[in-house]
Amino acid sequence: MLELKHELKLAKTRDEKARMNFVSGLRAHVLNDMATGMRTVYEGDVEPGFRRSAGRTPKDGPEVHKAIKPNEYFKFYSSLRVTAQDMVWQSVFPPLERNRGALKSKATALAKTKRRERRAEHGSLTLQPGFEVPRYVSAIDVHLMAGNYDGEYEANDLAAGALYDNGLAVFSFGLMGQNLDDIGQSIAGFIRLKYPHLKPKKILDLGCTIGHNTGSWRDQFPAAEVHGIDVAAPCLRYAYARAEAQGRAIHFTQMNAEALDFPDASFDVVFSSMFLHEIPQKGIANIMREAFRVLRPGGLMLHMELPPNSQLSAYDAFYLDWDSAYNNEPFYKPFRDLKPEELCRKAGFDPKKYVQFVIPSVGWYGEKVWSESATQPRDVDNDKTGRLTDGILWYCFGAWK
Ligand SMILES: C[S@@+](CC[C@H](N)C(=O)[O-])C[C@H]1O[C@@H](n2cnc3c(N)ncnc32)[C@H](O)[C@@H]1O
Repeated sequence: MLELKHELKLAKTRDEKARMNFVSGLRAHVLNDMATGMRTVYEGDVEPGFRRSAGRTPKDGPEVHKAIKPNEYFKFYSSLRVTAQDMVWQSVFPPLERNRGALKSKATALAKTKRRERRAEHGSLTLQPGFEVPRYVSAIDVHLMAGNYDGEYEANDLAAGALYDNGLAVFSFGLMGQNLDDIGQSIAGFIRLKYPHLKPKKILDLGCTIGHNTGSWRDQFPAAEVHGIDVAAPCLRYAYARAEAQGRAIHFTQMNAEALDFPDASFDVVFSSMFLHEIPQKGIANIMREAFRVLRPGGLMLHMELPPNSQLSAYDAFYLDWDSAYNNEPFYKPFRDLKPEELCRKAGFDPKKYVQFVIPSVGWYGEKVWSESATQPRDVDNDKTGRLTDGILWYCFGAWK
């Protein structure tokens, strides 16, 4: 398990650390070893069986899912993966409950102290009293995370943010980097290398949660004013304290990405990561339109996401859509069934200005392979795209305005 290094990390007992390590190891086993086994079972048994009876290969993810569902290996894989997912959050609850009060005081003190220490530049936190969280967030515990992002159980609660930060450290078994910001560092750095002419003054991160990937934009473009918005107050409180603890000046605001409270043409980059797949299709269309509206002409919209089903093999589509069926991610498959180029076009972007990239994880592949990717494009059709496996490639799509 990865140990967070920042000042908000939870104090844990030896047994709590051991439990977290176990859960990380279990997840790595399921997502690496068992996932490889499942593909072997599919290719050697399930797919030939389907071909014998149907006279063809499965045409898409749902057909693969239907064919593999009765298979014992698939059932074992799925039940173990669901159990491991639940255990991620369960492993965080005991230290989180014990440290709840201390965490809150530390966050408050941290923001004040850091603000005094670094007067030149600091971030901000703006919450909206009476803010209406969309039902697609408030009504579900996405990826089995109890209380979801917005659950608040006391005044100024920020436990949901701590749950996400510590849970992600267990979940990602080290593959997201020390600060859990491999996505942000890989992508913001890639954009800086690929487009040296781009000198953004203002950058916006939509659905920023605890700001772990928002901070990378500040690192890569230190001259830019960086904003992160989210609907979840507990995550934003935590995000602000986390960023201040790390000396990153970021402006966090409670806001719905479907109706941004920013003027037209006010940002040079509008970014999101792992965000759209948690939004219903109608909401996605609104978000894309809002991104177009707040971008300046010549600005770049970029969404890091799971690759669309249209760009993957039937098996890979099934494999990525597993979460929609078994991990309380109802919008995951509907999002992946959309065509990113179409989404951009319908939001007002010129199809000729569409872009998509597959960016190697800087943490996994190292600086050389990662930086070379800015000049040597890679294929999307790859089972390493967007997943935590033995090699990670981050898929992004978007458009220039
Ligand atoms: C999967 S998390 C995003 C993770 C994060 N961006 C990252 O890089 O790992 C999805 C986030 O989107 C937020 N969210 C959901 N709907 C939203 C909306 N309409 N506007 C703004 N934020 C929203 C949730 O509260 C949650 O924090």
